[in-house]
Amino acid sequence: MTLLHPPFDAATGNARPMHSGFGNHVATEAVPGALPVGRNSPQKVPYGLYAEQLSGTAFTAPRTHNLRSWLYRMRPAAMHPSFTPYDGAVLLRSAPFVEVPPSPNRLRWDPLPQPETACDFVDGLVTYAGNGDVARSEGIGIHLYHANRSMERRAFFSADGELLIVPEAGTIELLSEMGRFTVEPQQVAVVPRGVRFRVLLCGDMARGYVCENYGAPFRLPDLGPIGANGLANPRDFETPSAWFEDDDFPWLLIQKFQGGLWQTSLSHSPFDVVAWHGNLAPYRYDLRRFNTINTVSFDHPDPSIFTVLTSPSDTPGTANCDFVIFPPRWMVGEDTFRPPWFHRNVMSEFMGLIHGVYDAKAGGFQPGGASLHNCMNGHGPDQDTYAAAIKADLAPVKIKDTMAFMFESRHVIRPTRWAVETPVMQMDYDAVWSGFNKAEIV
Ligand SMILES: [Fe+2]
Repeated sequence: MTLLHPPFDAATGNARPMHSGFGNHVATEAVPGALPVGRNSPQKVPYGLYAEQLSGTAFTAPRTHNLRSWLYRMRPAAMHPSFTPYDGAVLLRSAPFVEVPPSPNRLRWDPLPQPETACDFVDGLVTYAGNGDVARSEGIGIHLYHANRSMERRAFFSADGELLIVPEAGTIELLSEMGRFTVEPQQVAVVPRGVRFRVLLCGDMARGYVCENYGAPFRLPDLGPIGANGLANPRDFETPSAWFEDDDFPWLLIQKFQGGLWQTSLSHSPFDVVAWHGNLAPYRYDLRRFNTINTVSFDHPDPSIFTVLTSPSDTPGTANCDFVIFPPRWMVGEDTFRPPWFHRNVMSEFMGLIHGVYDAKAGGFQPGGASLHNCMNGHGPDQDTYAAAIKADLAPVKIKDTMAFMFESRHVIRPTRWAVETPVMQMDYDAVWSGFNKAEIV
């Protein structure tokens, strides 16, 4: 029999209340007295639990960016036999992405169809693209997932990077070593590098996007002249309370390590952390709480105003990855072309659509779909969007029922072989820019 501590609250999806705040130091225990007081590693831990430090940055990282937590668990995480190769998740890839040449072409994909066979979150991961190199801890892997079953006695972690999970269809529940919580479309979750978790489906299916960040952990962007408030406010990030299960049945533990997939067996649930404290933990954020900043005069600012989270690189202001959203918002710019303008950027952009319609495209970009616009390759509004925008009445307009996002990176985003050979890739994407009329210079 599996014992859950504390009892699961089906009404809220949470075992315990969530802790408010981004990157806060949390102290939480599922059993009173389980958390050592005043020290991390006492000679005898309460209840005979095992103390374990989990670090997310080097020990000597500056204090403002240092991430670590102390876990108090029923058995050491080290207690397992050797890992052997895992032969599932056959479409999961890691950087460097060299299967096919990096394409300068604008690429777009229809939504990923539902899997034809039983498939959980791990086996349902499909890598579309990425950049950098896991061995150098830089770059990202961009995956989509589609699943029709929960992970049953299977847990997963990536030693290659933290996972930013962006559900598009179907609510999922993340059960992690450090707590459990639901994530619905228009919410996102981040699972730190190395944290073991499993994904339960709350309905018949689940689909979404994953950014596997090999680089510096995501943090909130600086706000500069915006001031002390705005964009994603720290209080709206939520970290779960400690939760554990006392389960002595066999489990499979799968890890992604330097691009390879490995498995080992456990004699028990890996979710046996009774208490923990620290600032490294999974967290959740509701994109609908994003405080959108935009023009109240003319033009529209660069889309960096929509940055939710950023993974900085060694070059200031030049991100390894920015997670950017395009949420509902008022458009009030006077004498302004209001949709995204034509542009060619040094940064490369992978976009997805979580909900509704994206305002730069009249059609073809569907929820669950994706697009890739790489460094220096021109893109922007399609013809229908352009034609409507230049003759629109410029009264204030509310863009409603939309939630698009972008993984933007300093490194060119290279597609996988699957991504350029799959039938869900649109072969005619260039046509959206093919027929603009010539401007007549009289
Ligand atoms: Fe763009």
